Amino acid sequence: MMHLDKLFTGRILYEGDFLEGCVGVRDGEIFFVGKEANAPSYDEKIDFNRLLIIPGLIDIHAHLRGMRLKHKEDFSTGTFAAAAGGFTLVLDMPNTDPPTNTHLRMMEKIEEATPQIVVDVGFYFGKPSDRNELQKLLKTVAVGLKLYPEDYCKAGSETTGMLETVRKHGRKIVFHPEDVSIIEENRRRYPEQLKGVEKHGFIRPVEAELSALDVFRSLSGPGAHATHLTTLRSILRARANGFTFDVSVNHLTLSEEDLLRMGSICKVNPPLRSQEERTMLLQSLNRGEVKILATDHAPHTLEEKSSTLYDEVPSGIPCLETAFPALLDLAGRGALNLHNVIDGFTRGPAGFLGDDKLGVIRERNAANLTVVDPKEEWVVKPEEFHTKAKFSPFSNRVLRGRVKATILRGELVYREGEISVPKGFGKIYGAKS
Ligand code: DOR
Ligand code: ZN
Repeated sequence: MMHLDKLFTGRILYEGDFLEGCVGVRDGEIFFVGKEANAPSYDEKIDFNRLLIIPGLIDIHAHLRGMRLKHKEDFSTGTFAAAAGGFTLVLDMPNTDPPTNTHLRMMEKIEEATPQIVVDVGFYFGKPSDRNELQKLLKTVAVGLKLYPEDYCKAGSETTGMLETVRKHGRKIVFHPEDVSIIEENRRRYPEQLKGVEKHGFIRPVEAELSALDVFRSLSGPGAHATHLTTLRSILRARANGFTFDVSVNHLTLSEEDLLRMGSICKVNPPLRSQEERTMLLQSLNRGEVKILATDHAPHTLEEKSSTLYDEVPSGIPCLETAFPALLDLAGRGALNLHNVIDGFTRGPAGFLGDDKLGVIRERNAANLTVVDPKEEWVVKPEEFHTKAKFSPFSNRVLRGRVKATILRGELVYREGEISVPKGFGKIYGAKS
């Protein structure tokens, strides 16, 4: 009879239902799921009693910064925050300083991240300057290419060629849908609107998002991924254009009213939309149309975010530590379906990656698990965050639903506020171990 390293007991998400039982782990993999009475022998048992044990959360869109933006976030603080938020894998964006768009910079980034990370991290590369550089980037472990509006809105056939090459190599193409021509036009036509952040949604309207989905379709054809869609209209357009997509937690939990009330801290690209649009987004998730959720964790310094001048305030909201609890809170109030929320950060992203070892609690899958208490109420105290960005639109709000522990390859990475593995425990996603 086989012998297990560890047994975790709790209410386990197994085959679509919560099963009171245990997950048995050996060598970092799940070897048993079932009733404790039927479990093989084990060295150690960790009781989570009536807490929910779900697959380790995966975030396909986060900004962990590092390099010359270390003052905003580095790979240890970013992955501490990820672990505290229940994430066992995050995919990091390339809009860094310098941008991650050459082979050398990708290797430097991996070298910087490797000794610092406590959960697994994957990387996107940014638009390379030529095909030679692209070929070299495709030899790295990067999961794919991330394009920003300025990378494709005015691009020509050489970009189409690059996209074909990326696709042929089985890597992902992720794009940020906002049409720069529309944004530039709005800025020119209404310069007086630019004094404060309250006109952000006016400068970068839904129409810019819809237009970008069409611009990208004509450039690339179908088969790309549109990130952080903000409205139901965008979802319908993305689907019609043959794209997969994700929705960010920001746009599910906050609206333009929050921008008007809280100001710069809620400035994010694409902007928060109206309450009506947000409601339709929640309904779409509940109908099962939204398969992938993302945090778009975007840390900046509080000093930068304290400016009230439109052009000075950087866009982005830090949210790795509040994203999942904020959704659990909505689920607890009946506004969201709990299973769709969980799938959006587990099964959906694993499908996006084409990784059948992740996203589901099942024998032979990686023993990556997140333990949550859907009923615990806690007050968001940004000063206690692990991210360097110690501010949040949820500051001082009570959220019902809390991440209690995060388990990576059978090891407790995070439990009750504490990181419990050394830096470097996390692995670079895609690297051979
Ligand atoms: O709000 C945003 N912040 N949108 C982006 O596209 C970039 C991100 C960042 O890096 O801060
Ligand atoms: Zn982003």
